[in-house]
Amino acid sequence: MPKIEIMPSILAADMGNLEAAVRLCEQAGADQIHLDIMDGVFVPNISMGPAVVAMINRVTDLPLDVHLMLIRPQQHIEAFAKAGADTILIHIEADCDVEDTLQKIRELGCKAGITVNPPTPVDSIFKTLETGLVDEVLVMSVNPGFGGQSYIADAEAKVAEIRRRYPEMLISIDGGIDLETVKPAAAHGANLFVAGTSLFKAPDMKEAITQMRKTAEAVFNSAI
Ligand code: DX5
Ligand code: ZN
Repeated sequence: MPKIEIMPSILAADMGNLEAAVRLCEQAGADQIHLDIMDGVFVPNISMGPAVVAMINRVTDLPLDVHLMLIRPQQHIEAFAKAGADTILIHIEADCDVEDTLQKIRELGCKAGITVNPPTPVDSIFKTLETGLVDEVLVMSVNPGFGGQSYIADAEAKVAEIRRRYPEMLISIDGGIDLETVKPAAAHGANLFVAGTSLFKAPDMKEAITQMRKTAEAVFNSAI
């Protein structure tokens, strides 16, 4: 059965002191660090590039889950692999040959992930999942581009359908995840939880991660 993991999204951290943010995640018991890479074209916002990923990789041994919100991810995967990404996720909506790009991510020694946006039907990824080239499916529960948005519950039906077809798949959910929304997300079969605002704004991140993991484990295990 897939393991429950909590991944703080560094987008919500104090960008002026990323090393301290990484230490906070480590001390709080994070399982991985999620990095949101935005190009200002695929999404309206611009965030960080490979140099920031490399900097974070230099100061931690935690796995890096690198979410590429890029219109042409194929042009950048090598740079992110070199920067120390463990998993590289591309969007099904990107302008690229998705299967070829996933294959190249694997050839670069990383796990490969596919992401689906709220308006995109879940059926759009099944052909890709059948190829066996996907290690992680990320279901967006907000329209990507910004942290701090409200959770869109429509993501749950997508998670459930993917879980039904692929009981062992790593399924992450990203956007608006907190101690409440983690419950329906886990009940529908998500096992990886990306959370930015709710963890970085929590008075005690360790307590927030501990509670989020405990809640997710209880709900996931009774649902499966
Ligand atoms: C949105 C990003 C998310 C975001 C989540 O484009 O993909 O990872 O940082 O942030 P919260 O948890 O604040 O919704
Ligand atoms: Zn993300």
